[in-house]
Amino acid sequence: MPARPIVRLGHPALRTPAQPVAPGALALPEIQELIDDMIETMRAALGVGLAAPQVGVGLQLFVYEAALREERDPGIPLHAVINPMLTPQSGEMVYDWEGCLSIPDLRGLVPRHPAVRVRGLDRLGRPLDYVAAGFEARIVQHEFDHLHAVVFLDRMRDFKTLAFYDEWERYMVGGGEAGPAGDLEDEGEDELYEAGGPEGDPDGTEVL
Ligand code: NI
Repeated sequence: MPARPIVRLGHPALRTPAQPVAPGALALPEIQELIDDMIETMRAALGVGLAAPQVGVGLQLFVYEAALREERDPGIPLHAVINPMLTPQSGEMVYDWEGCLSIPDLRGLVPRHPAVRVRGLDRLGRPLDYVAAGFEARIVQHEFDHLHAVVFLDRMRDFKTLAFYDEWERYMVGGGEAGPAGDLEDEGEDELYEAGGPEGDPDGTEVL
């Protein structure tokens, strides 16, 4: 299960809509190897999600997993989702920080639906139908977007929140230092800065 190279913004695979996995193809060894490799690649890159176009494969397939971060946080178990359809559940859009393994070192605030119904297939071809909420809903929407040639930058509504990781950590989250975040708060955009990291954890390591 070798890790595969992750393509970066500018690679056409990230801007080409992925094709559905053909019925029956899930049983092929190359598809199962692809899924194993994607899991390995995601873990090696310390990501919480990875879509097939990010390893240069134009198939509608993504994996995700978020490790336990605190005792009260059960984490998000490993999922592989094939040919997904998402249905947003009701609720106001929620802003939180995102990064992307294909857009290294940048963070930005992205609005997402707070919960989505996920339908598709698991890696054995069994139907999936569940509701993802909170951070899991954010991951699923980010990865789903990759299957449709959309990256998180396309979803941002204010590029003033786009920042390199070091500057983001220093000035934009939990810093306690006077800086651009304070200036922006004076402009009435403070609601954008109260999110912290995903689910309030501002460690900033989550990239999708
Ligand atoms: Ni991504």
